[in-house]
Amino acid sequence: MLEIDSLTAGYGEAIVLEGITLRLDEAEGLAVLGRNGVGKTTLILALMGHAVISGGTIRWRGADISRSAANERAALGIGWVPQERDIFPSLTVEDNLRVAARPGRFGLADAYAMFPRLKERRRNHGDHLSGGEQQMLAIARALMTNPSLLALDEPFEGLAPVIVEELEESIRRLRRDYGFAIILVEQHAEDALRLSDKAIVLDRGKIIRQDQSQALLADFDTLRPLISV
Ligand SMILES: Nc1ncnc2c1ncn2[C@@H]1O[C@H](COP(=O)(O)OP(=O)(O)O)[C@@H](O)[C@H]1O
Ligand SMILES: [Mg+2]
Repeated sequence: MLEIDSLTAGYGEAIVLEGITLRLDEAEGLAVLGRNGVGKTTLILALMGHAVISGGTIRWRGADISRSAANERAALGIGWVPQERDIFPSLTVEDNLRVAARPGRFGLADAYAMFPRLKERRRNHGDHLSGGEQQMLAIARALMTNPSLLALDEPFEGLAPVIVEELEESIRRLRRDYGFAIILVEQHAEDALRLSDKAIVLDRGKIIRQDQSQALLADFDTLRPLISV
């Protein structure tokens, strides 16, 4: 579904990522691990059309989308939950969901079934939600566009462990019940490995390790120094 080959990307003149090659199949889950500042968000931004690509290609279902505009990529089924969540603070929960909706399997009823708290809060405004509820809304909003691939940039950042557990269960369910492929960028490496099929570890803009998530979990002691500060 997604083929990235020898990707070089960054901002303006600055090159952040170099020689990134990876593949993702339909319904597959990829974890992107690595310390702060190694280029995880830049990889997602390059995929979504918000970074400068100076070399290599990104192919989506066989078509080169490396130079496609961000809205074209979204229309092709690449969804994204940005690190800063990006919900509309002045709209209600329900309107946040409705404005994002595109035809497909996942609709408002699915969003409320997946996140019952959002149903309880459906008339609340975006800025009257807890951090966890905002993250649920950001994820549900992205799902309302019915993407084939959902990229999540540090969805657990700054959230209490009990909320993280709730979100993990939701991510597991949306993979199982709807077959969305995911790219999960996370500092919580063990959680991310448990939610994915395979993983890459970035360091200073390059892939320094890649393997099946199970294998990396089993060998977590050698992974730890590569991902912790
Ligand atoms: N808009 C930007 N312009 C220039 N450099 C940036 C920009 N955003 C991030 N960077 C730089 O790119 C590098 C990788 O950042 P980022 O991809 O955000 O890392 P991560 O998500 O792994 O923490 C860092 O050195 C950061 O300073
Ligand atoms: Mg980041």
